[in-house]
Amino acid sequence: MEIVRTVTELRQRLEPVRAKGRVGLVPTMGAFHEGHLSLMRRARAECTAVVVSLFVNPAQFGPHEDLERYPRNLAADCAFAENEGVDLLFAPPVDEVYPAGFRTYVDVEGLTERLCGAERSGHFRGVATVVTKLLCMVLPDRSYFGEKDYQQLQVIRRLARDLNLPGEIVSCPIVREPDELAMSSRNRYLTPAERVSARAVPRAWQAVRACFAAGERAPDALLDVARRVLEAEPGIRVNYVELVDAVDLTPIARVTAPALLALAAFVGKTRLIDNTVLCPEQVEAAPEERST
Ligand code: PAF
Repeated sequence: MEIVRTVTELRQRLEPVRAKGRVGLVPTMGAFHEGHLSLMRRARAECTAVVVSLFVNPAQFGPHEDLERYPRNLAADCAFAENEGVDLLFAPPVDEVYPAGFRTYVDVEGLTERLCGAERSGHFRGVATVVTKLLCMVLPDRSYFGEKDYQQLQVIRRLARDLNLPGEIVSCPIVREPDELAMSSRNRYLTPAERVSARAVPRAWQAVRACFAAGERAPDALLDVARRVLEAEPGIRVNYVELVDAVDLTPIARVTAPALLALAAFVGKTRLIDNTVLCPEQVEAAPEERST
């Protein structure tokens, strides 16, 4: 595996590969866990050359968020990526991505206004900008994103479509710990006691799925179930619990099409997110296939 730091080097290395086959990109901020590794494995299985970008993107962190303490361990990440057969690790310095005088941002309207967008002002503008830049730098045939960041995935699908960016956006299932907590680089902030409290997050959506399977279709009733589970756990502070259309993320009056149950909660100072998609049996098209 080669580590490259500049866009010029990246393009030089990729040029001969493009003629031979498919280039896959896995965009990351490092601190790899099984979730990232599952994206790399999928890319490895489907592409001729696999590029992993590792860039802790300052533009997607708010002024009081965890940019400074975000876990960074290049040596360990390189070992993981190499072990997954990654060809190129693109780890640019900040000024390679945001040179002095940088003034161009990508804003995806509508989709970014609710859920995490309402809680983390400017976050999706930062994500949309860096992902657009990474897609332009690498020009992948396929890029791979996890469904844990479901809203991010929908934002990226939309920007790729709206800006005619080439290549396919591939979504990959959430990878979970044995007790169902979604894997996240931020899980490593949790103390042992907080880690126990965090189990209430998957318990909340599991309880909602059970209620949905029993026939409940009213958003208020389903949301109450989730809130009750979370509020029963003293170590947790609910940030939001919402049920929205799984494609455009707007509120719904009843679950008649795939709906996203999205949760965000603070466990101590750590903000965790999770989600599940509720699909009424009669709707067969996967959410991303429905036209908006
Ligand atoms: O999901 C992430 O790790 C980041 O938001 C991404 C997509 C790499 C952009 O910085």
